[in-house]
Amino acid sequence: MRASFLLAVVCTAGFTTAFPGMDKTMSEIQARQGGSGPSTALLGDLVHLSDRQLTRTGREIKAILRGTGNPQDLISHASYFLGTPPLGSWLCNIDTCCVWKHIADEMAPALTGTAGRCNDLARALIRLAFHDAGTWDIHSDGTGADGSIALTDECDRTPENRGLGTACDQVRTWHAKYASHGVSMADVIQFAAQVATVVCPLGPRIRFFAGRKDVAVAGPRGLLPGPFDDADRIIDMFANKTISADGVVALLGAHSASQQHSIDVDRAGDPQDSTPGVWDTEYFSETLDDDAPARVFKFQSDLNIANDPRTHATWRSYADPSAQSSWNKAYAAEYIRVSLLGVPELNSMTECSRALPPSRGSFDAPDQSQLDRFMQGLLDTATDLLFNGDVIPADLQ
Ligand code: HEM
Ligand SMILES: *[C@@H]1O[C@H](CO)[C@@H](O)[C@H](O)[C@H]1NC(C)=O
Repeated sequence: MRASFLLAVVCTAGFTTAFPGMDKTMSEIQARQGGSGPSTALLGDLVHLSDRQLTRTGREIKAILRGTGNPQDLISHASYFLGTPPLGSWLCNIDTCCVWKHIADEMAPALTGTAGRCNDLARALIRLAFHDAGTWDIHSDGTGADGSIALTDECDRTPENRGLGTACDQVRTWHAKYASHGVSMADVIQFAAQVATVVCPLGPRIRFFAGRKDVAVAGPRGLLPGPFDDADRIIDMFANKTISADGVVALLGAHSASQQHSIDVDRAGDPQDSTPGVWDTEYFSETLDDDAPARVFKFQSDLNIANDPRTHATWRSYADPSAQSSWNKAYAAEYIRVSLLGVPELNSMTECSRALPPSRGSFDAPDQSQLDRFMQGLLDTATDLLFNGDVIPADLQ
């Protein structure tokens, strides 16, 4: 493992949020509502290593998995004195994170549209990374976040991976371009998801740890959830992946940015809340709201979790704009866990959070009245523009 070397500014993570006063800790939320609380089980080699044996990064990951560490890094940045050193230069080669900065610079512009919203590729990459990691559970000997979704024909599996083909092709292209600089497919997939998340307006800047190894063997079937699963099955399936019921609620918030294609093909493009491409709390409130705009398409599985007595209170606690920072923090912690499922060696990973693009803490839609018309079902012509995160022109009919 190469040391992480920084040419200019080093900002380490460790700051809770930009607005510490607004932040409710997980334990407070848990105490208030009596939910399951965040996930806390250890993973990989952290299960058996003693604290003495841990590297600094190993300790950080352990704290995040325990629910005490900070899962976001809202401030660090890769600030190189004379710009990012060229790929392959010795300066870049001695800094493990330099190649990730190059990759982020290539990914980020491909993931947003002219309206500033994140686009269809961004959402598919987030889903792809969940599906690469999600083929692991405590009873399977399969590996999870191992790149296998793109290294085998796993991506072509139906029905669970339907619609992920373009995202798979894209990570293959990125991996082919950067593999000679030491990056694994598994890391490219997880990094792409975290870049995609942070470029969605209001999205969390989730700390990124590199060092996953590739396994070109398809994961077992039957370990990914389906859109008609009931709450028992979903909660049980995620529990087998060390994810608590409250953790499921936080993670499902990824549907805040999404637009379904395949559950109902006649309604392809219908978003899961009225602000597609924006990582806001509307999804939690509108899923509970019987009067949500006509084009809000609710997954049965989401409704099942939103209304289940074990998860309803946590769901409601996120259904308000003031919960943005507590939800982002919970999502980030649970997502880091997802991104490490089945990864055997966590103690030797390297943190490269500073290579991520900056987070975008506020957003004003430049086309709100047209977006409102679309959501009411009065502007079907805007479907492709929304897929691309592009501005809906004021004169579009
Ligand atoms: C009960 C658990 C879940 C179920 C049943 C589920 C199911 C689905 C389905 C059916 C779609 C629509 C795919 C399409 O038609 O295009 C979808 C989209 C999506 N899901 Fe989930 N999901 C679950 C959990 C998650 C989690 C944990 C994440 C992320 C960590 C996630 C991220 C996404 C994203 C970003 C999309 C949008 C994909 C796109 O627009 O191409 N989902 N999900
Ligand atoms: C979770 O694991 C248990 C075994 O402990 C198994 O019986 C159950 O089917 C698993 N649930 C799901 C949904 O995979």
